[in-house]
Amino acid sequence: MSDQGIAFKADVSLGHRHEELSARGWTVLTADEFDDDVVGTLQQFGPIIPQFNGQTAFAITRKPGYEDLPYSQSMNGIGPHTEAPVYAPPPRYLALHCHQQATCGGGHTGLVDGYQFLALLERTEPQLHQWLVETPVEFVATAKPGEAAQRRVKEYILTPTQDGDILRFSYNQFHYGDVNPCKEDLQQSLVANSPSPLARFAVLGEAYFLEHNTPVLIPDGCLLIWDNWRMIHARSRYNDPARNLTRYWLA
Ligand SMILES: [Fe+2]
Repeated sequence: MSDQGIAFKADVSLGHRHEELSARGWTVLTADEFDDDVVGTLQQFGPIIPQFNGQTAFAITRKPGYEDLPYSQSMNGIGPHTEAPVYAPPPRYLALHCHQQATCGGGHTGLVDGYQFLALLERTEPQLHQWLVETPVEFVATAKPGEAAQRRVKEYILTPTQDGDILRFSYNQFHYGDVNPCKEDLQQSLVANSPSPLARFAVLGEAYFLEHNTPVLIPDGCLLIWDNWRMIHARSRYNDPARNLTRYWLA
């Protein structure tokens, strides 16, 4: 019997998930497709790399101290962004393994195709698109809100590479000057009433996200993987403290 079990495990092909990820930018693996081997399965998509805190697995669940912040370990909503824009390059893929999903009606991971947004911008706002092509933007990330350690990088919103174009977008960065803003940063938006091209880009990006995003509520036991160079993601607010996910970054 055990031989049959092993043979079955080896036979589970993830080819259709790779295809879905490539075609649509995101995919969801069901529990029976990875049979508790999250790390081994993710490595079929790319090597797992350390995150802001140096760990390769990061808990996305409510932790005390972040109640007023748009931070992953709060229950607040988080505006549209690509993950870790301060890395060069940012993680290629992101994965969320859902142990227990929120049952309150919130906690969705919204996803939208950022390449399509930029293509639309090129047609409808050619001057703004040209500004983006010509102007690098500084991204800043405090590792944890309120801590001193910061990463900074000056990069273009869209950076072509041999392996594909890298899109960078961060609601928190554009509005509050930091990917992980502290309470003081949140006092004033750098976007509201600003005539700058970056502020206009932020407003248009948010509107595009709201209109076109797919809200995914990852079922318990399942694994969401998306292309972080292409997709913009966000999280909807939730109030179920039992929500518990693990986040992975893949190169
Ligand atoms: Fe994120």
